[in-house]
Amino acid sequence: MNIKQQLETQISETFARITGEDTAKALINYSKAPQFGDYQSNGVMALGKKLGRNPRELATELVAQLDLGNMVEKLEVAGPGFINIFIASDFLSEWSNQLNHTCLLEPAEKQQTIVVDYSSPNLAKEMHVGHLRGTCIGDAVVRTLETLGYKVIRQNHFGDWGTQFGMLITYMLDLKSKGDVSSQLSDLETFYRAAKEKFDSDETFAQQARENVVLLQSGDQQCLKLWKEFIGISIEHCQAVYDQLNITLSDQDIVPESFYNDKLPTIIQALNDKKLLTEDNGAQCVFMDEFAGKDGSLLPTIVQKSDGGYLYATTDLAAIQHRCKNLKADRILYVVDARQSLHFQQVFAISRLADFSNESCSLEHLSYGTMMGKDGKPFKTRSGDTIKLIDLIEEATERAFKLVDEKNPDLSSENKKHIAKVVGVGALKYFDLSKNRNSDYIFDWDNMLSFEGNTAPYLLYAYARIKSIFRRQNIDADGAFTINIKKDAEKGLALKLAQFSEVVEQVAAECFPNQLCLYLYELAGQYM
Ligand code: ARG
Repeated sequence: MNIKQQLETQISETFARITGEDTAKALINYSKAPQFGDYQSNGVMALGKKLGRNPRELATELVAQLDLGNMVEKLEVAGPGFINIFIASDFLSEWSNQLNHTCLLEPAEKQQTIVVDYSSPNLAKEMHVGHLRGTCIGDAVVRTLETLGYKVIRQNHFGDWGTQFGMLITYMLDLKSKGDVSSQLSDLETFYRAAKEKFDSDETFAQQARENVVLLQSGDQQCLKLWKEFIGISIEHCQAVYDQLNITLSDQDIVPESFYNDKLPTIIQALNDKKLLTEDNGAQCVFMDEFAGKDGSLLPTIVQKSDGGYLYATTDLAAIQHRCKNLKADRILYVVDARQSLHFQQVFAISRLADFSNESCSLEHLSYGTMMGKDGKPFKTRSGDTIKLIDLIEEATERAFKLVDEKNPDLSSENKKHIAKVVGVGALKYFDLSKNRNSDYIFDWDNMLSFEGNTAPYLLYAYARIKSIFRRQNIDADGAFTINIKKDAEKGLALKLAQFSEVVEQVAAECFPNQLCLYLYELAGQYM
């Protein structure tokens, strides 16, 4: 139990003892200013009202009865019935000294299996800036949950099964007949564009592409072979990005759309059995009362097209079923762009109606906003092209190299390169993580690489400085030493550290990594 929870428990128990109201829960907050103590309880206000008693009197009685041992230096009744809590420095010294041997975090109480679907790009093209947020936020959430001891199952739901692949493999065939195709596949963006151009301008090619989709989906050997070749290369591109960004996804986490292909007919069958399907213009749809358009007419979720083809939503229904029934998920988190929020609401609702997910499994769309350019439009290159993620990472590293070179020209070039990588990649990821995921944000190299404010360079600088203090004092940070808290600044730092577990638990529950970033920034400031 952290210090705040200990206070909450103790004060609530005393409430119950003196009033007989055992449901009364003391709420403890961090005080806004030093004169209000370190923590403040507001619990008696509501309780006083409920019992018809003057809250100030009740608070005074409570303070007289409360035995918090050596934890507090003093308690004060303030205003209409607040209790200001001043933590004793000696208690904090003792608490800090225990931290030498134990950890700041306690493992989660409830064992849960948590499936996290993140990154999940479409493999027809290379990863671009739009994939940065989902990849970084997802990985931060996964690491947080694992640190708390949850069983986390990563799912990279790659898009590898759309109609575009017909076009791509037809273009591969085309190139193969002329010679080498592999060199062209080193840049998937250009490859895709060339294939698309041919598709749009050459009717014979387009016809072949359409036929190849059908062949591919019906298991034709040659088409499958080409498709596998393409997918393999595209996955390598993704893995290169993950490695550069130090993202924990690997081949083992790949469960792409094609994995669910042969389960889709049973999904339609199950929806039909539950009488959830309505035919609309030949397509199979689910209509639900809670999803209506502006004019009041119900919005369809299409699960099968008139030509028999399945859709994005059908695959997601099969994925929910797999994750609940086979992976035994207690929670499924989808780290996906906010623009897909209607899709997820619909899919979640259908999966409840059709029993693809059990009631106890929590389905959560962790949506995120768009990365904007300085012009306020989605971030693109000057010529309006999408920016490849791998190029963005390279630019971050180059810019960081320039900074390091200016600040420390005497370092060896190898050292400079290493620092540039750490600072550049750190800056890119941290800039993203430090923003509330629900909002859009403006991509800005200067802010990102600034040594001031809540940035990676500032935190890395703080970290290096803390390390050097230990080094210069010849203190082994992992060894045994005694902390003796005397000054206000030291007390503030200890209290801030006591808040750590609470912040991490909050991130695990709500999945906003920016809360942890803000905490770390404040912690670093307090240390400085
Ligand atoms: N591939 C999709 C896209 O790029 C994202 C997939 C997200 N996950 C899911 N289960 N639908 O938009």
